[in-house]
Amino acid sequence: MREGRPVTVETSHCIPVREPVVSLSVGGHFPDVLEELAENSEFNESKGPCLAFRRAASVLKSLPSAVHCLGAIQGLPCLGEHTKAVMEEILIFGRSFKVEEVQSDERYQALKLFTSVFGVGPKTAEKWYRRGLRSLKEILAEPNIQLNRMQRAGFLYYRDISKAVSKTEAKALRSIIEETAHWIAPDSILALTGGFRRGKEYGHDVDFLLTMPEMGKEEGLLLRVIDRLRDQGILLYCEHQGSTVDMSKLPSRRFEAMDHFEKCFLILRLEEGQMERDEGLQKDPGESRGWRAVRVDLVAPPVDRYAFALLGWTGSRQFERDLRRFARKERGMCLDNHALYDKTKKLFLPATSEEDIFAHLGLEYVEPWQRNA
Ligand code: CTP
Ligand code: MN
Ligand code: MN
Ligand code: MN
Repeated sequence: MREGRPVTVETSHCIPVREPVVSLSVGGHFPDVLEELAENSEFNESKGPCLAFRRAASVLKSLPSAVHCLGAIQGLPCLGEHTKAVMEEILIFGRSFKVEEVQSDERYQALKLFTSVFGVGPKTAEKWYRRGLRSLKEILAEPNIQLNRMQRAGFLYYRDISKAVSKTEAKALRSIIEETAHWIAPDSILALTGGFRRGKEYGHDVDFLLTMPEMGKEEGLLLRVIDRLRDQGILLYCEHQGSTVDMSKLPSRRFEAMDHFEKCFLILRLEEGQMERDEGLQKDPGESRGWRAVRVDLVAPPVDRYAFALLGWTGSRQFERDLRRFARKERGMCLDNHALYDKTKKLFLPATSEEDIFAHLGLEYVEPWQRNA
């Protein structure tokens, strides 16, 4: 530690901190730091602390300006002891020993690296770590490791899909998929969801909902879209899951995180030429090979579930968590990607738009760009 300045915390006003508070080791951005701590807790299967750090990160993201002093932390809700301690360390010393400990931890580094591969979850990552593996190269060189199809695609396109997807690329993909869907069914409806619907400039993938205006007509559509993408030579990988929606089981079952809609997890080939023409951009003569691989999620709910699916897939994850919790605690209702169920009245509340759902919950409509919690 640097020279002994007493760590007292003033509650009434901001204590000016000695240096411009930009942390050296962590980039000084509190939400990012807290997300890292959340991830570390997740790897250690500490669910409570993980959620606590995520909630704190989301509160800090929602502030109009960044926190620059100890006083500013005091009035904030949802900041647990651990979060406060870390923030105080950073504000006072410019760095956090706790965070640095996590960041330099060999296991954390390995699990973070392994789970960055498409198709690799914490369990697989842990297994590889226990076998003494520490790098992606080592995994690929290990003859006894059986990668599944998704993981093989994850390694094959690792470079491309770990690179952020831009809004321009998302729009280009939207045109391609829309054109493909309309070629098959002219009245099909394609909606951009996920981070890009919330107005984000970059994402790790591009998310879409695909449906038909008439109930039941969506059946078979997604498979035909996939076939057509394959015929066009742009389907690099596809994992398709059929629908397992069973409304008759819904209220009795626990409302789950994973939904039951027909969907596919794709890797698509996006030609760079197409976007440059669209945006009038200059081609970078560097390493460009003329195309890149992009992760795409395509979900096909029946139209009577569309509003719930749209709300659920628009996110953010934290916003969804908060909204579901609000529905449960404040309204005695169960909300998930398929439905809204009123437990007191014992009935499903119908909705044809997101506005309907917010109205059922007694909330004012929240615009997608206000859902970046
Ligand atoms: N989602 C879901 N069920 C899944 C996967 C995702 O309901 N099996 C929802 C989540 O609520 C999430 C949203 O779909 O908020 C989009 O998921 P994802 O693409 O992972 O996150 P984004 O918010 O789009 O952010 P990113 O830029 O990382 O893609
Ligand atoms: Mn996304
Ligand atoms: Mn994500
Ligand atoms: Mn996604």
